[in-house]
Amino acid sequence: MSLTYGCVDAGTEYCPCNLAVTGDCLICSRLQGKDTCDCDWSGVCIQNEFMQNGGRPSGLRRGFTTEVLQRKEYGDDLQVLTLVAGRGFAQRASKPGSYVFLRHPKEMRFYDVPVSVLRTSEEAGTISVAIKEQGHKSKILLTAERLEVRGVYGGGLQGVKYLQPGYLKGKKVLFVTKGVGAAPALLTMSRLTPDTAARWIADADKVGKEFLEEYGSACRPQYVTLSQPDQLAALQGTIRESGCDVVAIMTSDYFVSVIRALAREVLPEAKLVWSNNARMCCGEGICGACTQVDADGELFRMCKCQREE
Ligand SMILES: Cc1cc2nc3c(=O)[nH]c(=O)nc-3n(C[C@H](O)[C@H](O)[C@H](O)COP(=O)(O)OP(=O)(O)OC[C@H]3O[C@@H](n4cnc5c(N)ncnc54)[C@H](O)[C@@H]3O)c2cc1C
Ligand code: FES
Repeated sequence: MSLTYGCVDAGTEYCPCNLAVTGDCLICSRLQGKDTCDCDWSGVCIQNEFMQNGGRPSGLRRGFTTEVLQRKEYGDDLQVLTLVAGRGFAQRASKPGSYVFLRHPKEMRFYDVPVSVLRTSEEAGTISVAIKEQGHKSKILLTAERLEVRGVYGGGLQGVKYLQPGYLKGKKVLFVTKGVGAAPALLTMSRLTPDTAARWIADADKVGKEFLEEYGSACRPQYVTLSQPDQLAALQGTIRESGCDVVAIMTSDYFVSVIRALAREVLPEAKLVWSNNARMCCGEGICGACTQVDADGELFRMCKCQREE
């Protein structure tokens, strides 16, 4: 199964981005300096947009400082923070795969932590995020009363277009989650319409059942322990028997690659979606923190790049 690539920002309000200025657009061959158009992009012509905009990019996302409205603890090292963000921001953050960068307002830019959006309230103009204490940066977030927020970024998942409510209409989707990787699944589940049949296999490791059940009210979890080989093997049977159209795997990279292979074997036609666990810093395709190189030596900026199988 070959991989194809796209850009998560193509055709959005953030396109054309700063990469267009230097001939580094991920999609448009003309903006890459070639004489011919050989892109597979079926949306509004990016080069045309760029020219009509006077050769200027749409601009980078700006940050703002905001209040932590509510903080709820789950166990010793997981907190759900609700932040005041404004209605427009909350609406943009409600799309599957949305994430923001957070940092303590007194710290410098390299303290930015990418965090998935867990829940939004467009009415209240708030977003909620679940933060698991890991190291230096996340510990600081868990004590802050105000936070600097930058976003909204859309590439928290690979293959995210297969989780859009429009695509899932009348289809069956199976979520497999582990730990705090469940956050983007929970946001997606909260947006599903009744004509999508959803099933959720969850490993509560490191986050606990209380957190999962509180935020997963749209779908009941079926618990497994993925680190147990017999349960991982049984998962393949569950995937096969689900006959689902989309398998969304939101776990660490290790389990993403194992479960992706299991799913591919028994449901070769299913669309796959998985966590984008790249190391992120700017989220704009500029800093290079997230770059990965494929077997052909081609370099991809994983914050922008959408891979699909
Ligand atoms: C798109 C995306 C969404 C995420 N969503 C959530 C979430 O909802 N909740 C949550 O608790 N965590 C989430 N993470 C992970 C979170 O960003 C890292 O745990 C955090 O940056 C760790 O920083 P630290 O200094 O606390 O820990 P460290 O001790 O520095 O690192 C702990 C782990 O996090 C990784 N990490 C460190 N910095 C980054 C970085 N800038 N980008 C990605 N990984 C990093 C390290 O490689 C290591 O595996 C997400 C990451 C990405 C890329
Ligand atoms: S995070 Fe900076 S280029 Fe991707």
